[in-house]
Amino acid sequence: YGLSQSGAAPAQASAAPVANKQTLTILFGSQTGNAKGVAVAAEAAAKAAGLDVRCVSMADYKAKELKAESHVLIVSCTQGEGDPPDDAIDFHAFLASKKAPKLDSLKYSVLALGDSSYEFFCQTGKDFDERLAKLGATAVEPRVDCDVEYEADSAAWIERAIKAIAATMETAAAPVATPAASAVATAVSQYNKKNPFTATLEVNQKITGRDSSKDIRHFEISLEDSGLTYQPGDSLGIWFKNDAKVVAEIIEKCGLDAAAKVTVDDAEVSLEEALTRHYELTLSHPGFVAKYAELSNNAELAKLAEDRQALREYIDGRQIIDIIRENAAEISLEGLISCLRRLTPRLYSIASSQAEVEEEVHLTVGVVKYEAFGEEHQGGASGFLAERLEEGGEVDVFVEHSHFRLPEDNSPVIMVGPGTGVAPFRAFIQEIDANDRENETWLFFGNPNFTEDFLYQVEWQSYLKDGVLNKIDLAFSRDQAEKVYVQDRMLQQAEALWAWLEKGAYFYVCGDASRMAKDVHEALVTIVEQQGGKSRDEAEAYVSDLRKNKRYQRDVY
Ligand code: 2AM
Repeated sequence: YGLSQSGAAPAQASAAPVANKQTLTILFGSQTGNAKGVAVAAEAAAKAAGLDVRCVSMADYKAKELKAESHVLIVSCTQGEGDPPDDAIDFHAFLASKKAPKLDSLKYSVLALGDSSYEFFCQTGKDFDERLAKLGATAVEPRVDCDVEYEADSAAWIERAIKAIAATMETAAAPVATPAASAVATAVSQYNKKNPFTATLEVNQKITGRDSSKDIRHFEISLEDSGLTYQPGDSLGIWFKNDAKVVAEIIEKCGLDAAAKVTVDDAEVSLEEALTRHYELTLSHPGFVAKYAELSNNAELAKLAEDRQALREYIDGRQIIDIIRENAAEISLEGLISCLRRLTPRLYSIASSQAEVEEEVHLTVGVVKYEAFGEEHQGGASGFLAERLEEGGEVDVFVEHSHFRLPEDNSPVIMVGPGTGVAPFRAFIQEIDANDRENETWLFFGNPNFTEDFLYQVEWQSYLKDGVLNKIDLAFSRDQAEKVYVQDRMLQQAEALWAWLEKGAYFYVCGDASRMAKDVHEALVTIVEQQGGKSRDEAEAYVSDLRKNKRYQRDVY
């Protein structure tokens, strides 16, 4: 790996000799990984420019260090109503508090990621910019607010910001020219998000039972001859194709010609191809409704689009096709394209280790499929992989590197992964097994029913027998009258869990962010409080230290 994504970012053996007296710190606040990806690309560009640089999640950054910084780049996304992402909450609050120091000698620039269909577009990035300026810091490059399609704007910002930073650094040598971030990324691997590898789907296997409430698939994809490599904890990006039936129906309802030409990324493709591969049809967004209403002179829909709350409820559960079906009207080709957003690839936590499966990559995917408005609906990427692609078929993929990592040493590992959240832990265990690592391991897994939903049951049993997996606790939520969840099992095992933490265990959580990860966090703090004989505040500080020391890592979505 040429790109260090480690938050600690130690100077690597291969790093260029440091010519600067000063260091650039890149801080990111990321929820889905986009901001992190931009920060890592900026780090690579800074390294290539010969700068001394470190790239740190705001969650791992000690805010008190800010006083001592000379150059900082901030990359942050924004959540729903203008809130900072989880990673950024503490740092964001610190900058607004009385504790925030004077920053007269700090040079900085901010990249804000957001979604312009929300009222508080890029709010967190705007907050950071405003507060740093108020504290006396100087923006060496104006803030850039990126919309959903952020790649081009963020790459341009990286190039300008690194140049501006380099120009204001006290250097021992003249600054080196800055290559574009994309050039740096390409040097690492031939294939990336913009230039994906066309891989082969080898296995599509349903791993939930016939009577399960869920359809979860195990996919095996061949990366043969791609040179792509990944680490346990990384994700695989999937560029999926939209459903041909949906594409045909949209074209027909709008009264358009499938063969009509559309320009996408400077290339001419047919409308059919554009809708299949380049535009988002599964997730609808508020902007679509407003524009579509205008183009189709639909007064009723236009009125709905003015009421934020009603609009949110309307698009929830409706795909683009549903809105078009209910409001079919002939519209122009340019009109239709202007309403739509570019398709974004979906990321899945990888469920395998290359130490075990070599040139394959495995995924554990919950298939989105439901009946609504009298029609069957499929998820974008999950529907493509599970239903629309045959075994042997082609899928464009890339590897998205992550901070979610096994300990470097033999510290014990506690893994909490209900549902498809178990994926990266299958990768962890494969890695530990294949490399004869000595980490003690403990898995908490949960799902609705034992007989239908015990994902990878045979594998866990065999790892237990071989002593690769030392402990497993199961929470089959619907096998008894009262719901039982992974956090309940944690609390039942509080004493042992505390003993593991005290002997240096790393604690990992993967899966649902909205409820599970919050409840698991709560259980963790409670265990530390009760078993450690601490106050609530002390327990929170203990858990917060775990996080800073990378002993508490989350991959939640
Ligand atoms: P349920 O659907 O029966 O409520 C994987 O999806 C498992 O996570 C399921 O067993 C699901 O239970 C459970 N689950 C639902 N809400 C949860 C929560 N807040 N915390 C932990 N697990 C939860």
